[in-house]
Amino acid sequence: MLRFYTAGESHGQALLTFLSGLPAGLRVNLEFVNHELHRRQLGYGRGGRQKIEKDRADVFAGVRHGQTIGAPIALRIENRDWANWEKILPVEATDSPEAASRKLVAPRPGHADLAGSQKFNFHDARYVLERASARETAARVAAGAFAKLLLREFGTEIASHTIQVRNVGLERAATWDEIRAVNADLESPLRCVDAAVQEKMKAEVDAALKAGDTVGGVFEVVAHNLPVGLGSHAQWDEKLDGKLAQALMSVQAVKAVEIGSGILAAGSFGSEVQDEIWYEKSARKFRRASNRAGGLEGGITNGEDLVIRGFLKPISTLRKPLGTVDMVTKEPVQAAYERSDWCVVPAGGVAGESMVALVLADAFLQKFGGDSLAEMRRNFESYAQQIDEF
Ligand SMILES: Cc1cc2nc3c(=O)[nH]c(=O)nc-3n(C[C@H](O)[C@H](O)[C@H](O)COP(=O)(O)O)c2cc1C
Repeated sequence: MLRFYTAGESHGQALLTFLSGLPAGLRVNLEFVNHELHRRQLGYGRGGRQKIEKDRADVFAGVRHGQTIGAPIALRIENRDWANWEKILPVEATDSPEAASRKLVAPRPGHADLAGSQKFNFHDARYVLERASARETAARVAAGAFAKLLLREFGTEIASHTIQVRNVGLERAATWDEIRAVNADLESPLRCVDAAVQEKMKAEVDAALKAGDTVGGVFEVVAHNLPVGLGSHAQWDEKLDGKLAQALMSVQAVKAVEIGSGILAAGSFGSEVQDEIWYEKSARKFRRASNRAGGLEGGITNGEDLVIRGFLKPISTLRKPLGTVDMVTKEPVQAAYERSDWCVVPAGGVAGESMVALVLADAFLQKFGGDSLAEMRRNFESYAQQIDEF
């Protein structure tokens, strides 16, 4: 129902996002969209690029008089760094020395450089890395902000926090209030809810920088106040857990996804991992005593918070370069170094929130779909009544 595409290279003119399927009549707060883009640029362990870019989305289509009109939305985020790359990556054919100087023939292990060059038949990984770069997540975050605006109309909020950097982990559950508070705090270096743990995480980031190395970690995305019944158990490709896993796994450097306590559950007894059900008569609501399932059972939301984690590998580009092979001469060389981040866990979390928001907004549209927000709201309210009377 909700489709989105992105285009644009890391050092090209701009990133573009096309988003189709939102209902008409959704109020669009561009300040919120730009605030989300800003959040993606924050975080302890980021390289020089974030100082150059001050991302802002310009709307070219689909929003008029401050609201969606049912037409596809087109957004453009300018790459400020383009000024430094105009001669290197012009649209026109070129034999300029600038372009030749930025050819990349020493593919970096852990990047799409070599496999992409072989696949697309280039002996220059520049074309591949320009698109594989996580700069593309800015375009996703812009689309995700629109999805969040839709979800907010129905009371659903999404936030993320950092629960591990290298091997330093947050060893306790965080409450929704803590997660929401740390999301609002733009000064928080790693978006971890526990100040003492965050200091230890920062020390890991510092140690990596000093050693010319990099670190990965884990971010957790939480969607709060979801209705029961998004997604379906009925077909493999309708299961919401599967859709969310694909969406989160598609974020650059995410190598594993966990829903609820999935990893711990695999090593436990059944009696230790299921969430017992009880009924709160006064609220007329079914409740779970715990939320180890992370808000999903059988691929369907069960009304608890959705809890999903993305495991990021350490950044592949190292100042202390790894061994590789020159794609032209086939001789051993050291991998190329491009200005790079050395810890991106908080930014990965913002990209993760956006992907979760897009999947959930799509599920909302499937369940409550309508051409206008008013029609969608009527469908939502009628379903809420069904659940209340169940
Ligand atoms: C927000 C974010 C920023 C990233 N920044 C960098 C970076 O500066 N340098 C780098 O080598 N990798 C960076 N990555 C990871 C690479 O884009 C990614 O590892 C690479 O494209 C290969 O894809 P894969 O790890 O998903 O297989 C970043 C990832 C995210 C989520």
